[in-house]
Amino acid sequence: MTAVGIDAIEIWTGKLKLDLAETFAPEKGEDPEKYTKGLGLHASSFPDAHEDIVTMGANAAKRLMERKGLEPEDIGRIDVATESAFDNSKPVSTYIAGCLEQVYDGDFHHANKGERKFACIAGTQSLDDAYNWIKAGRNRGRAALVVATDTALYARGDPGEATQGAGAVAMLIDEDPNLVELSTEQGYGSADETDFLKPNQQFPSVDGKRSMQVYLARMREALEDFESVSGDTHPDDFAYIPFHTPFPGMVRKAGLLGYRHMIRDTPVEEELAEEIGFQPREENFEDRESYEEAIRDHMDDLSSTEAYRDWYAATVEPTLSISREVGNWYTGSVHIARASALKTAAEEGIDLTGQKLLVGSYGSGAQAEIHAETVADEWEDEIEALNIDDQNDARYDLDFEEYEKVHDRHNHDKTIEMEDFTVPDGEFVFTGRGRMNERLYDYVDN
Ligand code: CAA
Repeated sequence: MTAVGIDAIEIWTGKLKLDLAETFAPEKGEDPEKYTKGLGLHASSFPDAHEDIVTMGANAAKRLMERKGLEPEDIGRIDVATESAFDNSKPVSTYIAGCLEQVYDGDFHHANKGERKFACIAGTQSLDDAYNWIKAGRNRGRAALVVATDTALYARGDPGEATQGAGAVAMLIDEDPNLVELSTEQGYGSADETDFLKPNQQFPSVDGKRSMQVYLARMREALEDFESVSGDTHPDDFAYIPFHTPFPGMVRKAGLLGYRHMIRDTPVEEELAEEIGFQPREENFEDRESYEEAIRDHMDDLSSTEAYRDWYAATVEPTLSISREVGNWYTGSVHIARASALKTAAEEGIDLTGQKLLVGSYGSGAQAEIHAETVADEWEDEIEALNIDDQNDARYDLDFEEYEKVHDRHNHDKTIEMEDFTVPDGEFVFTGRGRMNERLYDYVDN
């Protein structure tokens, strides 16, 4: 059977930065450690005045195509995943293809284009669509371009404001991939939930605490569903577990839940029982409330065991390094978690070829999906080509007044003219609107 998966990846961050401890916390009258330790975030990326979901997506895609030596005719499909779209009819993929056609001789007229929506999980769903298209043999030897691009902005004053972010991840899905092969097995946890939504509005309506519970409930459901087709999982099966990362503190909770689930009825649970007792079983409790209280106490104890801490430090913590510096990128978030893990492995000289990842995606509304990935032979070369650290270092550091202005600039209900903070060069830029209110773009090369 042909292996299908992610052949290459490129990341484009919004070119501005909001430092949460230095700039945001003092204005909010909060302890900086609420952000750096509690949420686990140092900074958020923001789009400059000339940037939006199209420019960031097109810039990531161009880097990817250039690095892989691709021409438009090599691409049979362009899927964009976003929850920041500005048009209910014309998909963002057409704008991105239009941008790329400005700099390539060929065109994408024979590529199928679409836009995927299911909150943050849409990036992974687009991977699935590309995977299925290739597996079905409909790709005519061509690869798929998947772009996850978002400006994750919240209304000012919303608790979610601390978890904003903006950036794009472009991924090439192909046969015999260089980076990771996707498993056929998948697990889903999906239910009609009202945790986070944008009913025809730009900024989300969020029930923050509920959204965290729903994330965990759907993730557990997806893991059980995954195990029903792949067999039981064990913490030692996976080199890394990248999760959707709205903020690293959320992943801290997901990691603990996953570990508790995976070790149940294994020798690991038995060994830990000497230290913290066995996991509470619901049948041993009179009511749900006392069971849940016992589970909470047990989770607290489990989180401080050496076994858990070592596992988390090796398997989950390395997935968070990019996220801590850029915030939530919604559809791109789980894909930067995977990139962070592989980047850490490359930096530490860990040989990952043939090892497994377990990938936990999530979208509010709500759905979680779990699948496994096998790291491919050329992963290191692919990951070493990323320049996300340089991009992050080059971001313009906003003061609070500038942050508010940029936030207003990207507010669809306001018309704010402002100078760019950075000088665009070798990139696509937003230039204004056309006669039908469409957005217009140019490629700038100084
Ligand atoms: N030092 C260290 N830690 C501190 C601290 C301090 N001085 N002050 C607070 N903290 C800790 C808190 O204890 C808490 O950690 P725990 O949950 O582990 O206890 C953490 O910092 C955050 O503090 P609060 O809970 O008080 O923060 P908040 O109420 O202001 O907001 C939030 C948190 C609800 C997540 C909010 O940021 C939010 O609404 N975010 C948007 C929704 C979201 O991201 N939900 C995640 C699941 S949904 C999803 O994943 C989809 C998506 O992408 C949006």
